[in-house]
Amino acid sequence: MLKELEAIHADALAAVTEIADTEGLEAFRIGYLGRKGRLTLAAAGMKDLAKEDKPAAGKALNEVRNAITTAITEKSDMLQSAADAREADNIDITLPGYAVERGSRHPISQILDQAVSTLRRMGFALANGPEIETEWHCFDALNTPQDHPARNESDTFYFEDGCLLRTHTSTVQIRTMETTPPPVRIIAPGAAFRRDEIDATHLSHFNQLEGLYVDEGVSLADLKGTLEYLLRSIFGEKTPVRFRPHFFPFTEPSFEIDIMLEAQGKKSKWIEIAGCGMVDPDVFNAVNESRTDRAYCPETVSGFAFGLGLERLAMILWGIADIRLLIENDIRFLRQFS
Ligand code: PHE
Repeated sequence: MLKELEAIHADALAAVTEIADTEGLEAFRIGYLGRKGRLTLAAAGMKDLAKEDKPAAGKALNEVRNAITTAITEKSDMLQSAADAREADNIDITLPGYAVERGSRHPISQILDQAVSTLRRMGFALANGPEIETEWHCFDALNTPQDHPARNESDTFYFEDGCLLRTHTSTVQIRTMETTPPPVRIIAPGAAFRRDEIDATHLSHFNQLEGLYVDEGVSLADLKGTLEYLLRSIFGEKTPVRFRPHFFPFTEPSFEIDIMLEAQGKKSKWIEIAGCGMVDPDVFNAVNESRTDRAYCPETVSGFAFGLGLERLAMILWGIADIRLLIENDIRFLRQFS
């Protein structure tokens, strides 16, 4: 029996070196370890051995089986790496690689970056607030009474609990003043939502840039200077800017800002671009009531606020005729801004 096992061992190790492919290796495994394999048949002879010979035979049997199993694993690894190497040989490293396309900033992001960097140089810090708001932050605190048209179900998305998707970023004015005593000088870019029919000039989900500056002695001159500087940094140094009286419930006086645009080959015209005004004392009073102090006492502090629509800015700056282009992600459109 021991002799037999030794012969199997030697034959197997010799045979395995001749194997050239995985089929050959599988035939080899079956030939030795399979149900009718040489080692399996030899093992069956164990039962005929004398009792005292069995331990030595059993030990030898295990050794031979382990040796064959190891040889199979090693051979299999060798065949695999040879196959990998052959495949690598077929790679033509002189072929051009796949081009990785270079992305670029979305026009809205470009406008926003520019506005934010200009305003930050003027000392404005970034602030934000939730998109799902309470009616109080969106309307009441902003001096917008219950019967104001903006509170109507038809132009606002309401939730069952009475919260709503904010209709403007002016909510961040309130949120900031509730948590921070004056002076505050913040800008808050973010989404706003209205139940508008989507068309060439309206989206129901758009982006605004809000600004608020409150301190002792902030005047209308500060408002004008800041916004003229901001708009000229976007539209060009010589752009004419005008402030036209308007009404917002939360500012007094209020203005809409127009810029004069000279479209090529067309008559120049004034285009409305932002809303702004001096913070209404009633807004300070609402904030004080929520804070339960008089930090925003209308007799000692004053401030200005403004709101810009970013899509509108982009459309005017680049002459984009349809606002929907800004959300469709058509690469042919977006490439023009890279
Ligand atoms: N919140 C106003 C709007 O969405 C814009 C605005 C902001 C006006 C701040 C005045 C001051 O139309």
